[in-house]
Amino acid sequence: MKVFYGSVINPDNLTLYKASSNSLLAVNSEGNIEWIVHDIQDFMVQETLLQHGCVDVELVALKDGQFIMPGFIDTHTHAPQLPNIGTGAQYELLDWLNTITFPMEAKFADNSFAESAYPGVVRRTINTGTTTCCYYGSLHLGSTKVLADVVHSLGQRAFVGKCNMDRNSPSYYKEESPETSLRDTKSLIAYINTLDAGPAGIPLVRPIITPRFAISCSNPLLAELGKLASSDPSLHIQTHISENKSEVTFTKSLFPECNSYAAVYDSFKLLRRNTILAHAVHLEDGEIDLIKERDAGISHCPTSNFHLNSGVAPVGKYLDKGIKVGLGTDVSGGYSPSMLNAIRNASIASKICVMQADDSKSSGQYKDKQLSVASLLYLATLGGARVCDLEDRVGSFAPGKCFDALIVDVRNVTGNPCLWGVDVGPEMTTSLDTMLERFIFCGDDRNISSVYVQGRRIGGASR
Ligand code: GUN
Ligand code: ZN
Repeated sequence: MKVFYGSVINPDNLTLYKASSNSLLAVNSEGNIEWIVHDIQDFMVQETLLQHGCVDVELVALKDGQFIMPGFIDTHTHAPQLPNIGTGAQYELLDWLNTITFPMEAKFADNSFAESAYPGVVRRTINTGTTTCCYYGSLHLGSTKVLADVVHSLGQRAFVGKCNMDRNSPSYYKEESPETSLRDTKSLIAYINTLDAGPAGIPLVRPIITPRFAISCSNPLLAELGKLASSDPSLHIQTHISENKSEVTFTKSLFPECNSYAAVYDSFKLLRRNTILAHAVHLEDGEIDLIKERDAGISHCPTSNFHLNSGVAPVGKYLDKGIKVGLGTDVSGGYSPSMLNAIRNASIASKICVMQADDSKSSGQYKDKQLSVASLLYLATLGGARVCDLEDRVGSFAPGKCFDALIVDVRNVTGNPCLWGVDVGPEMTTSLDTMLERFIFCGDDRNISSVYVQGRRIGGASR
């Protein structure tokens, strides 16, 4: 048993988080949270441990300026695109895919390229504090197996899928036929399911069906993927939806029989409670209702939506509808693998919604309102867990959940009790609310001193 003693910040829901500067949080040998006690004093620690029958424990006392919070959940990213980050801001989606993205992803036809690129990609993602990550690989079976191996060996919780794409893609980067696409998808699922389970006997790496987007999948391929999904309701599905206006127009022209973009996925039985829909910038009211009805989740990717000039997703409206929403970095549409960046851009996106709001129509709790720190924290953690259908396991701290956590350290690198090199006085480093807010808006990897998944330390700044 390992027991952490110190400040804990725990998302509760969209408007609340619980913060306590003195908590004891006990993690058992399987990496699950056994119990938590809040608001205790130093002199009560030993007595509390004894009350819980803990004799042989490793007690980890946090220092001033440190706190524990749940790890970030990145509900949407592309592993083979990380080598491209920071480029392409002048493009919109469809040109960007053809000019920047497909040429890079095509390099992953060579497994040795994947073997040299993916360890750095996953290590970087972990050290930015992402404990659960939804990865798109390239279309290649071999290199996506390499990605799954790397994630597995580094101990991150993840969904890993290979892209399905058999049309409207360049000849050098397209699957041969629906049959080969399906065959490789099934092989990847079988392969990932053979990877060893984590300490609690539960696999940390799981397969996910990944039709890239409706444009790149033929009707026969979507039909086969729908059948595959129906054969196992526990299989997750990830795809893109309504990111860019030209994409929406093209999609509608390819599927004239469907009355919306979401209806395309629905007609192939690919819209359900474990479907993760990335972007959702330009949804129509009818399809918002359909997504809610199917209980699918939305990955809000604001960094990418700004970078690729896609637009501003009205997430407040989705939250008011009770749709599940999490955040995604969408590397390399997004220029950073850090969820801190996604959080900051989600904040800005919400402010733009406020600025553009037609006051006469602004009713609802979240629509056209600025997202609070509590809401931003929720979206990056518990909201993401809900989108991934993993709410019973991760996203917040509760007995029975897995200890997927970050130890955040807001002191500067010399260990001084000040923030990011500017001495702002003790009150700025002792108030937990302020520490969280400043970490979210000014922090980076250097402030994440440990990253835990299922109770195991898998990364963090080395100091
Ligand atoms: N739509 C289809 N493929 C992609 C992709 O790789 N990135 C983004 N942002 N949108 C997509
Ligand atoms: Zn994407």
